[in-house]
Amino acid sequence: MQLDVVTLFPGWFEWFAGQRHVRNALAHGHELRTVDLRERTPLSGGQVDDTPFGGGAGMVLRVDVMDAALRAFYGQDPTDLRLARRVIALTPGGRVLDDAFVDELTAEPAVTLLCGRYEGFDERIVEHLVSDTLSVGRYVLSGGELAAMVVCDAVLRKLPGALGRAESAVEESFSPALEGAPEYPHYTRPAEYRGWKVPEILLSGHHEEIRRWRRARSRERRGAQG
Ligand code: ADE
Repeated sequence: MQLDVVTLFPGWFEWFAGQRHVRNALAHGHELRTVDLRERTPLSGGQVDDTPFGGGAGMVLRVDVMDAALRAFYGQDPTDLRLARRVIALTPGGRVLDDAFVDELTAEPAVTLLCGRYEGFDERIVEHLVSDTLSVGRYVLSGGELAAMVVCDAVLRKLPGALGRAESAVEESFSPALEGAPEYPHYTRPAEYRGWKVPEILLSGHHEEIRRWRRARSRERRGAQG
């Protein structure tokens, strides 16, 4: 899979790309590339944003700057690009990321994530240059970079090769295998610590009963979430 991030801060992703599970995914042929918006701006002095028409605080990312960056990087009109690959604007008001959305993205061969800064994007970027919007939650970050890392992390860890066999992503919180419920509780050695005991059933070796117990705890947690 090819993950591209359009950002004013490509340096942030150097740290991210160095983390073990990301390195593993990249070693398996997946790609994480960054596109530096400022490097590609057609405006003088590295300008990328401007004051909002109609007034108000903050700065808005310009549509001509985003158009030029995408056109230069992909060598095609960005209005066609969004038909060829998912081009996603990261914005607090977008479609909220959940496990189903992550699975949808994991199934794509190529995804481009656009990071906003300041007050966000000129709305014409969203209308004409992107296929989707995505929010990592209903709160405002100072830019899309951390949101992009959340998306890349959630997607890359599901790809073959990112996790070791012992860390399978199949039966985990919110997965279809757990009917969308949070994961059951885990325990490890010691079996007793300060009088706090591991549930007897997990030490019993009765696999079917353990499976039933785990399903029940997982469903309980869903109930507790409301
Ligand atoms: N940019 C700023 N806040 C964001 C959020 N909550 N989700 C995605 N992108 C953002």
